[in-house]
Amino acid sequence: MDYKTLFVNSLHQQLGEHVNKEELEKMIEKPKRESMGDLAFPCFELAKIYRRSPKDIAHELAQKIDTPPLFAEVEAVSGYVNVFLDKNQVASDVIHDILVKKEQYGNTNIGQNQVITIDFSSPNIAKPFSMGHLRSTVIGNALALLAEKCGYQPVRINHIGDWGTQFGKLIVAYKTWGAADKVSQNPIKELLELYVRFHQEAESAPELNNQAKQWFKKLEGGDQEALSLWKWFRDESLKEFAKVYQLLDISFDSYDGEAFYNDKIDNVYKTLEEKQLLEESDGAMVVKVNNDLPPCLIKKNDGTSLYATRDLAAAIYRQERYQFTKSLYVVGNEQTLHFKQLFMVLEAMGYTWHQGLQHVPFGMLLQDGKKMSTRKGKIILLEQVLEQAIELAKNNILKKNPSLVEKDKVAHEVGIGAVIFHDLKNFRLHDIEFSLTDMLRFEGETGPYLQYTHARASSILKKCHYQPDENAAIHEIDAQAWSIIIYLLSFPDTIKYAFEGNDPSQLAKYLLELAKVFNKYYAVVRISDEDQKRPTRLALVYSVQVVLKEGLRLLGIKAPAAM
Ligand code: ARG
Repeated sequence: MDYKTLFVNSLHQQLGEHVNKEELEKMIEKPKRESMGDLAFPCFELAKIYRRSPKDIAHELAQKIDTPPLFAEVEAVSGYVNVFLDKNQVASDVIHDILVKKEQYGNTNIGQNQVITIDFSSPNIAKPFSMGHLRSTVIGNALALLAEKCGYQPVRINHIGDWGTQFGKLIVAYKTWGAADKVSQNPIKELLELYVRFHQEAESAPELNNQAKQWFKKLEGGDQEALSLWKWFRDESLKEFAKVYQLLDISFDSYDGEAFYNDKIDNVYKTLEEKQLLEESDGAMVVKVNNDLPPCLIKKNDGTSLYATRDLAAAIYRQERYQFTKSLYVVGNEQTLHFKQLFMVLEAMGYTWHQGLQHVPFGMLLQDGKKMSTRKGKIILLEQVLEQAIELAKNNILKKNPSLVEKDKVAHEVGIGAVIFHDLKNFRLHDIEFSLTDMLRFEGETGPYLQYTHARASSILKKCHYQPDENAAIHEIDAQAWSIIIYLLSFPDTIKYAFEGNDPSQLAKYLLELAKVFNKYYAVVRISDEDQKRPTRLALVYSVQVVLKEGLRLLGIKAPAAM
């Protein structure tokens, strides 16, 4: 189905073992001018191998390569083999493929049903859901969807930050200054205030820190009072997070957070000891992974565990439970060192599966060029940001299409889609400026623009009472349709590369390009005119509609039929 592969195969047949297929594929170019064909193979490299002129080689190849039914024409021009595709044939093939497979177009089985765990979102309880966690949530969700599309079995894990010394601090703060009804009414805000107050007061009363340490030690030891306060804070926080996940329509297979590994940590210490990897350092226990990295702290001098210890236990547990071949951690840039250490300790422990572990880092969300921060009590509640996006989308709809049915549902899908797309269209390592007005525009590189294009395609199909028919004959396509065909053809590869590169932005950019060429076509071709080209045109519009919808779905974005 892929014409580049067909070309590679034909070249390979002629050239035999001298050059392998991968090398050939890399050498193939896309000619700058249409008059030079659709694909071109330069023979200059081969000239060195065969000690013949590139011109001669090109000539010989062009003669030997089968033309129809594969290609409309093959010609040799100054050292290049140029291939012309039979545009109608190609168009007919790809449109039929989509008519048959529908939203399953682009599915592959690269994953062979293997398990891939994806650790994403993972907010910290008693703290607001931060912008960083939003990025992790939307990137991780898209990667899980792409993985599924590529034949993997994703396991979505929300590694909730629900353990650690900060809970000792929180318990002390709550017992000293807190009030139950206030926490129940507004858990995140109240708990955060208590946490901030703890730090302020501890500056002049350092003994608070000791109390906090003791409470965390009690918590790790299973003390009833500590546990029940902790559980309460946790439940209240999870209820708040659930609102965000509901708005985003994202779910998880596991909410096993850091606390879940509490009873699995002793085994980690034991194994590390057996393998003689633990060393003492100032009363604490560390693993020195190598000389380039600082030692990885495993046990504090008071005997309590750390973030890294719990991540070691989690990785080992996940391998036992899910037998993953790949395991992704979608976590901000700033934790790069942590994951390097973690993976190296696991390697040192002798786990061969460490090779499947991968940190998928990302940059920051900025506002006016500065990090959107939650510290010092200046909190931005994500839920409110999302609600605001929905409201702005609703205003746009009221202006543009006041008679639309299901306004609220569409406003929700557009508002949320805008936020998600704005994140995913950028390469994840880049920092992103967060601007609701920009991301909600209906024109330009936005989610609403894609949704709008999709709705436009849906509406023509509806107006023309189009019914997809697998057996429809696809005749001559319009000249202006060719660029659409090219994009439709490359959808499967785009998915594969986006998944393999952990880079949903490749898919996001692809969708923008597809929408652009489609809108260009729409502007010049009278699609619904009653002439003999109409069935082919409608089948093309249908193909675009299917691919846009499926592409958006893979990014976690809904595609309403009207807006
Ligand atoms: N809760 C952590 C944070 O907010 C992220 C956890 C990421 N996952 C992991 N396995 N360490 O920084």
